[in-house]
Amino acid sequence: MKEQDNVSIQLKINGQQRTADVDSRSLLVEAIRDGFDLKGTHIGCLTGDCGACTVIVDGKIAKSCLTLAVSSEGCEITTIEGMATGEVLHPVQQSFWDEYGFQCGYCLPGMLFSSLDLIENNADPDEGEIRQALNGNLCRCTGYQKTVKAVAAAAKSMSSTPVDKMIRKELVEKA
Ligand code: FES
Ligand code: FES
Repeated sequence: MKEQDNVSIQLKINGQQRTADVDSRSLLVEAIRDGFDLKGTHIGCLTGDCGACTVIVDGKIAKSCLTLAVSSEGCEITTIEGMATGEVLHPVQQSFWDEYGFQCGYCLPGMLFSSLDLIENNADPDEGEIRQALNGNLCRCTGYQKTVKAVAAAAKSMSSTPVDKMIRKELVEKA
């Protein structure tokens, strides 16, 4: 078996400049979880199909199993741990909570980021658009009905909030 070849990577992650030693072959999701000890980003398929590993990289959603950690050197990353503001849930999180949009929660971090990305690009998505946006996020528990309702509720809540366009800005500022 090949010996581990550690390298140091630096990321701006959830608002903090951090450095971690990771195996040079690590995927970004492995570095986030094991190097930076942020376990909220989940590992599912490792092939880009399930969406459990979704995070924001430099302002765009990304499946962190599809990138090597070393390729993300210097990037700004928001993980699920950076979504709420202290004890205050992000409106998308709050809507998923209120509408029972999840059960076990394994898919939840990815669902939340994909939902946020949709709402920022389409303030009033219809059911088909929501289902399309969540196409890359698999859930084994909910059957998606309540998840779709949660995203619609989040869109409504964000459009009635004057700071709706600041949500990503908020995340970027924190990052
Ligand atoms: Fe990345 Fe499934 S673990 S898409
Ligand atoms: Fe369990 Fe989605 S809530 S996988």
